[in-house]
Amino acid sequence: MRLVISAIHQKGGVGKTTLSVSLAGELAKRGYDTLLVDADPTESAQAWAKAGKLDFNVVGYPVMPGQTEAWAESISKLESEVFVIDCGPNDYSLAAACALTDVALLPCSASGLDLDGTVRALRQIEALRAQRRTPLNVLVVPTRVDGRTIEGRQLVEQLRSLGEIVTRPLTSRVDYVRAFTAGLAVHAFASNGEADQEIRALADQVLDSVAMRSAA
Ligand SMILES: Nc1ncnc2c1ncn2[C@@H]1O[C@H](COP(=O)(O)OP(=O)(O)OP(=O)(O)O)[C@@H](O)[C@H]1O
Ligand SMILES: [Mg+2]
Repeated sequence: MRLVISAIHQKGGVGKTTLSVSLAGELAKRGYDTLLVDADPTESAQAWAKAGKLDFNVVGYPVMPGQTEAWAESISKLESEVFVIDCGPNDYSLAAACALTDVALLPCSASGLDLDGTVRALRQIEALRAQRRTPLNVLVVPTRVDGRTIEGRQLVEQLRSLGEIVTRPLTSRVDYVRAFTAGLAVHAFASNGEADQEIRALADQVLDSVAMRSAA
């Protein structure tokens, strides 16, 4: 079984890399042979891996405009059971990843700018779906949610109205920030903490969306 999961959004700073590294760590912990593909030329996921403490491999395959077919071919030659692709913030990376993805994760925080961007991303995804022969599962992931604010409390409902599956939120937590500084995935940085529990729930939802949880 080859499962490709991508964190996509054409907008920067929505939480794609944090989500990718955290989820890849959780899936590796569950025993899946997991490879994180850093598709962003800014190499944030590779910076996270630099200390050599992650328990999965991170490889850099930056997507460049006009070269997305060659990129997809390189990815298809890689060997692993689970791929997590951390995309750069642009339309062509989103399109390139969607072409070979089973589960697309679309992080979105409680800001009007992120929400507008998410509506636009979903429109692009809808057009890409029409070009595929296999289904593309889309999970919208509320990120950096602060339940103390009205915006944070309304986010899940707002995202649900967009018509795709909305996951349990990832709240705004310093553990996600510190995990990067420590060079660890969230589960290894703060085992059983809130962030770890959020990522576990997300991993369940991702695997359920492709009926793989029982194999864990
Ligand atoms: N759940 C969270 N709680 C607190 N901080 C977070 C959370 N998720 C992400 N962040 C912080 O938000 C910032 C942006 O996150 P991240 O780098 O993961 O976004 P990105 O979408 O990959 O950005 P880019 O498009 O630039 O690659 C980082 O400083 C990260 O530590
Ligand atoms: Mg990133």
